[in-house]
Amino acid sequence: MNITYDERTRTFKLDTPKTSYLFQILGEEGFVGHVYYGTRIEDTDLSYLLCVGPEPFAPSHTDRERASYMDKFLSEFPGHGLGDYRESSLVVRDEDGHEAVQLLYRGHRILKGKPALKNGFPATFAGEDEAQTLELILEDPVLKLSCHAFYTVFADTDAITFSRYFKNESDRKLIIKKADSLSIDMWQEDYELLTLHGSWARERSIDQRPIGYGKTSVGSYRGESSHQEHPFMALVSEKATQETGNVLGVNFIWSGNFLAQVEKTQFDLLRVQMGIHPDQFSYVLAPGEAFQAPEAVSVFSAEGLGHMTRSFHDLYRNHLIRSPYKNKKRPILINNWEATYFDFNTEKLLSIAREAKKLGIEMLVMDDGWFGKRNDDNSSLGDWFVNEEKLPGGLKYLVDEVNKIGLKFGIWMEPEMISPDSDLYRAHPDWAFQVPDRIPTRSRNQLVLDLSRQEVVDHVFEMVAKVLRSANIEYLKWDMNRQLTDLGSIGLSPERQGELYYRYVMGVYQLQGRLVQEFPNLLLENCSGGGARFDPGMLYFGPQIWTSDDTDAIERLGIQEGTALVYPLSSMGAHVSDCPNHTVGRTTPFRTRGHVALAGTFGYELDITKIPEEDRAMIPAQVEMYHKYNDLVRCGDYYRIASFRENHLYDCYEVVAKDKSEALVTYVQVMRRPNQHGRVLRIPGLDPERKYLVTFDDSEKKSLHLTGGALANAGIWMEEQWGDFKSILIHITAE
Ligand code: GLA
Repeated sequence: MNITYDERTRTFKLDTPKTSYLFQILGEEGFVGHVYYGTRIEDTDLSYLLCVGPEPFAPSHTDRERASYMDKFLSEFPGHGLGDYRESSLVVRDEDGHEAVQLLYRGHRILKGKPALKNGFPATFAGEDEAQTLELILEDPVLKLSCHAFYTVFADTDAITFSRYFKNESDRKLIIKKADSLSIDMWQEDYELLTLHGSWARERSIDQRPIGYGKTSVGSYRGESSHQEHPFMALVSEKATQETGNVLGVNFIWSGNFLAQVEKTQFDLLRVQMGIHPDQFSYVLAPGEAFQAPEAVSVFSAEGLGHMTRSFHDLYRNHLIRSPYKNKKRPILINNWEATYFDFNTEKLLSIAREAKKLGIEMLVMDDGWFGKRNDDNSSLGDWFVNEEKLPGGLKYLVDEVNKIGLKFGIWMEPEMISPDSDLYRAHPDWAFQVPDRIPTRSRNQLVLDLSRQEVVDHVFEMVAKVLRSANIEYLKWDMNRQLTDLGSIGLSPERQGELYYRYVMGVYQLQGRLVQEFPNLLLENCSGGGARFDPGMLYFGPQIWTSDDTDAIERLGIQEGTALVYPLSSMGAHVSDCPNHTVGRTTPFRTRGHVALAGTFGYELDITKIPEEDRAMIPAQVEMYHKYNDLVRCGDYYRIASFRENHLYDCYEVVAKDKSEALVTYVQVMRRPNQHGRVLRIPGLDPERKYLVTFDDSEKKSLHLTGGALANAGIWMEEQWGDFKSILIHITAE
């Protein structure tokens, strides 16, 4: 990694291990032009790439046609209303109602390491020897708006992070209407657009399509990153594979509304942007006030999707997730949600705990329904005191009993919500988001607490902390089961109502920040109706997130493939559940369910006292398998070998130890194909010279002795198995 500034050409060059990012200061005014982002190069003078006319662009020299220059300039900081008709990355309204803005270079500093973002916002971090940061100081001299733009490069991954901090240095009010975190202009080559779309129970499906002229975007104004679209976008060479082709992936360390957009212009330029969604957003900056735009991340890979994936995984494992659990095996948990739903009591939970202990499970998690008078999802959110009818003797008694059995204890809460039928709502009806005179829009019969108000945040924190302080609770599943509507707060003036979505996320971050500070050893698993808030912002607070409410092993192949495209396996909550599956009604072998859950945090979500004896009998071996492989799964390099989504027959992925001494391959034959004998699987990522022992967890299949070269090029032969949904684990160890 290296950041340099070439005084002669006024060019900044940011190098990651395999990529370079260049931009240049132009003219006396100080426009910032984007020069290059791609495979690492040594040159710094590439200003000819900015040559959109007879000579490199500098508006003050060619004032006669300034507008036409502005509209094709590769701009690092696209302004608004001054000739660049493409999407702006910043829109600011002044007191006179004008919205013209253009940031210009004023100075810079190159720093060791990486400074934290303001407001305790989630962001990547790095020690002084692990990263370098460029702080670029910019200004709109007319508005007197300053911007500090931060770029960080890391020694151990090909990622670059971007963040922007704005300050009103004038004596007049400014209103930010849009402020992107990242904007990259580039020439269209043969890129297609890859995004992750979804719905409840089918989050993060991979979708790839050509990029047409005009703007193509994904986004959310649901108040969270959402099931539906994901704050990730990749430009992918048309013929890119896992190992070849150019890929530019961008991701957003933010858990609220976002807009990810690519625009293809009349000149075949692309503008790629990531930021807070400008719809339903505005932020007032009184004189002297500041605004922090969240951090965005980009990864360029000239080695296909696989290298992009591994770069994101390394960045998030090494520089984002802070939990003390990040480098540890998580306890194997059993969650009672799909086992009992709301119908449980102390005795039922203890019977699950006793049976779980016998089989090697390490923690019981009590899900929804333990508080207030909650016997279904119609009431009690906000009343975080134990329901003694279900749990006589209270939480402490239950937790102590579970601990005596030899299991840790975890709990479910949904702190951001309030049921209209709750004591909290009866006491504080104004604490829910609401637009005066409108009937509040319920979802799952609940409303959302107005976390833009400090007194509400303080109350919520105390409610959660009181529960956690009351017993030996070692894990918290923090859920959020509806999206935001009715954005109105009595805590904000009319002109500041546009800040609500942003301030809500700040409230969530403040809560989780305080939580991990007071309970540093708590294992926090975030969740939102399954995986609607599976984003890097939440990973900053908790090391794992519930990936989806869909626990069917076959559906999970696609959900986990899309999720693992960006996020490390160590962050994906994955459980073995009962069959027929509660979401899709499919019956899959218990063995396959275990293999698929092994790609995540691993646990169970079923009534262990009632499942078939042959399934129960398999649990000790699955527990052993988890202990044997989890270090590798958590810390290794992930390779996608084949995708059921593409071939409609089978799925296959691999994790290789960083030192290439070991690998684990999961193969799932989803559909038996008639009159097919089998297929070759090529296993990448190992040392081509080294000899490996290849074993299969299917006793019928003989072990092999092969070099890494043979595994990657010749591959191994997998016979077609009888029936559907069959899986095999392949363990490869250096000899
Ligand atoms: C959400 C979660 C589930 C479960 C329920 C409880 O849907 O994703 O895992 O906790 O809430 O109501």
